[in-house]
Amino acid sequence: MPIKILMVCLGNICRSPLAEGILASKLPKNKFQVDSAGTGSWHIGRSPDDRSIAVAKKYNLDISEQKGRQFSTSDFNTFDYIFVMDNTNYDDVVQLAQNQEQREKVHLVLNSLFPNENVDVPDPYFGLPNGFEIIYNMLDNACDVIAKELIAKHQ
Ligand code: 4NP
Repeated sequence: MPIKILMVCLGNICRSPLAEGILASKLPKNKFQVDSAGTGSWHIGRSPDDRSIAVAKKYNLDISEQKGRQFSTSDFNTFDYIFVMDNTNYDDVVQLAQNQEQREKVHLVLNSLFPNENVDVPDPYFGLPNGFEIIYNMLDNACDVIAKELIAKHQ
């Protein structure tokens, strides 16, 4: 059984599709599966934001085939690890957990870089165009650490 990891943001069109593509690129496919979801429902079935697709392409990552979906309580059973992009996502996801085991699956993605600091990946949707480059780099650094930890833990 592969280890399953879910990346979560609000819309599932900007941050978590990038996080999914970046983390998947750093993990062996035979052992790990990475998916993403949004806590909101606006973008179900939609492709990632053009700006996320473009910044991923710049770094040779193709995320254009992903489709938006909404986080659901069944994801707590499907996934071994759930990484959220910001504190609001954390509260929204943890609120749906039914027990401590499910709550403990949820981690802020940047705590891999800044332990216990609870730093947000800022939502780039309404921000400046270079926001996508900034969050790409944040997620790339965070996913380097996460991938190394996961590979070490599940070898
Ligand atoms: P994301 O960004 O959570 O990184 O996918 C957003 C995209 C769209 C909206 C909010 C956040 N929206 O309100 O439509």
